[in-house]
Amino acid sequence: MKTTNVKASQLNYDKYSADKYDKDIVNSIPFHREIHDEIVKYIERLNISKNYHVLDLGVGTAITSRIIKDILPKSEFDLVDFSKQMLDGARKKMGNDNINYIMGDYSKISFDKKYDIIVSVIGIHHQNIIGKKKLFKKIFALLKPGGIFIFGDLVTYRDKNIAALNNAKHYKHLVDKSTDDKTLSEWAFHHMFLNDLSPIEDQIDWLKICGFKVYKKFLGLNTALLICKKNI
Ligand SMILES: C[S@@+](CC[C@H](N)C(=O)[O-])C[C@H]1O[C@@H](n2cnc3c(N)ncnc32)[C@H](O)[C@@H]1O
Repeated sequence: MKTTNVKASQLNYDKYSADKYDKDIVNSIPFHREIHDEIVKYIERLNISKNYHVLDLGVGTAITSRIIKDILPKSEFDLVDFSKQMLDGARKKMGNDNINYIMGDYSKISFDKKYDIIVSVIGIHHQNIIGKKKLFKKIFALLKPGGIFIFGDLVTYRDKNIAALNNAKHYKHLVDKSTDDKTLSEWAFHHMFLNDLSPIEDQIDWLKICGFKVYKKFLGLNTALLICKKNI
């Protein structure tokens, strides 16, 4: 078994213009908007005048971090991606005020800070089982006591019939929402050959084993949002 995820060169993000990516990700990931509505509800409960340290793993063009920064403007962000093209898109959205851009594979980087918030949206599903388990442990260790891991991602299910049904609906969503066949092929290929989805039930267990208290905030088709708390 591979010990980690696919490499940046195997994914298609470096070929994507940031503007097209922004539209395609929202169209191609079912409930991308809805999970962000939940993230907003959660972040709005925090202290807007506090300087939170935020780490975004697989930041892409920073759709999620931009939303968080708008609510928590005093916060400081470390944004990680192994695609230069995506990180350039993130830079356009976030600027340079209290923002650090880190180009590299998050599973290999040794971070030297502790964080209040670690977020990853549709950024971990390329990791295989070993990769995900290791990463969850690493995220737990990187959080300060009381810190939160906001984890939105594509998942599957232990029950193979439910997994098949949701996968079929995921492809239907791609067919319905893609603007043209080239885009459809791109995202269907990605889902079929590059994604490495793990059952939501397993992932919740792995997160709990690390020590997280896990709250399921959204689950629809293959899209999930978990808020994971490192209790004091
Ligand atoms: C589907 S995109 C999601 C981006 C963003 N979070 C969003 O919701 O729009 C996944 C991103 O994760 C990045 N990525 C995947 N695996 C990574 C890894 N091991 N290290 C760093 N970045 C990674 C990809 O380059 C890509 O930009």
